[in-house]
Amino acid sequence: MLKGKHIILGITGSIAAYKAAYLTRLLIKKGAEVQIVITPSGKEFITPVTLSALTGKPVVSEFFTANTGEWHSHVDLGLWADAMVIAPATASTIAKMATGVADNMLITTYLSAKAPVFIAPAMDLDMYRHPSTQSNLKTLQSYGNYIIEPASGFLASGLEGKGRMEEPENIIAYLENYFSAGLSYAGKKVMVTAGPTYEKIDPVRFIGNHSSGKMGYAIAEEFARRGADVMLISGPVNLQCSSRIRRIDVVSAKEMCAVAKEEFLKTDIAVMCAAVADYAPKDYSETKIKRNGDLTIELVPNPDIAATLGVIKRENQILAGFALETNDEEQNAKSKLVKKNLDYIVLNSLADKDSCFGYDTNKITIISQNGQKAEYPLKDKKEVAKDIVEYTSLLIK
Ligand code: PMT
Repeated sequence: MLKGKHIILGITGSIAAYKAAYLTRLLIKKGAEVQIVITPSGKEFITPVTLSALTGKPVVSEFFTANTGEWHSHVDLGLWADAMVIAPATASTIAKMATGVADNMLITTYLSAKAPVFIAPAMDLDMYRHPSTQSNLKTLQSYGNYIIEPASGFLASGLEGKGRMEEPENIIAYLENYFSAGLSYAGKKVMVTAGPTYEKIDPVRFIGNHSSGKMGYAIAEEFARRGADVMLISGPVNLQCSSRIRRIDVVSAKEMCAVAKEEFLKTDIAVMCAAVADYAPKDYSETKIKRNGDLTIELVPNPDIAATLGVIKRENQILAGFALETNDEEQNAKSKLVKKNLDYIVLNSLADKDSCFGYDTNKITIISQNGQKAEYPLKDKKEVAKDIVEYTSLLIK
């Protein structure tokens, strides 16, 4: 699985750096080509000589070699890599990655990397559970980076708890698992809609809904991870997507519809996950509407984007939709599937605990055109996305 893969191994200043030598050895044994990039403090914990002896390549640490002036291009390195693994990753490096503090070769390489990035934190348990570290890790995850969770056990500080860098064998297993999913969507163009739409009433107010975008973004990331060229059409959300994904931000249903119609012509697969407002105010007030007794706002229907695409869908295109229900779930979902000419519909219900808007988890049932149901248990939205992407692959002709 790792044979011939170009791996950048980033090493930072943690006592767990000693494990990086073994990780390097295992990567080489698996047939990977490894380039070590080490931070200045990483070199305090493990010598570049050990590492370059293992990889057969000079270790990169500075922006240039002082005595020759040879420049080390972080951009070229970033493009060379099939994966970048940062193991061990200290709290300091994680914070710099999350905020783009590009003051060493490892961070500039990270910022230039086009390949998937895997981060194996290593630190004391209190540092690991500190809200600042947790928030930085969440930020990195939202950029599409993969966090290889640390294990629990005895720490160098003498304390016991979560913070030990994952064992090299398990990091290898994580990478093999990642690459084994294969790039089965290579060459496919996928469009995903995500998030809510906002329909303006006046410069201050709008009609919207509670969609966070998490479900749609997870689907876009999973298609991209499997090699698809992904266009994400996103309503207003607070999320980042990885640089592998092309993204167009829109606000209203009309804007989303215009972009989706154009993109759909170039698309093989479209998954309509956005929670589109069905109605918009008939009139927009250029000035803030003053409080003055009862207020009636006349609403007019927005375009049904999925149904519009259903009309222009070509024979070889796959169009999937979602159904967000509160009651009579299956019956409503099936009627949307037919009305919008979808190839399948993903039903999720607000009646299910920890599902739908805003949660990190979701519980779905996929219903096909012939009425067959695939029911899934409550899962993390990233896992739900895997199920949807896998299901879609069965429909590709
Ligand atoms: O974003 P999260 O917080 O992670 O929450 C995820 C989610 C609950 C928003 C998502 O899982 C979901 O259910 N998305 C669809 C929400 C919705 O609008 O459902 P609906 O049953 O009203 O619409 C049916 C389908 O038609 C959907 O594919 C929708 O994108 C599409 N639609 C709806 C109205 C409209 N005017 N145009 C459309 O294209």
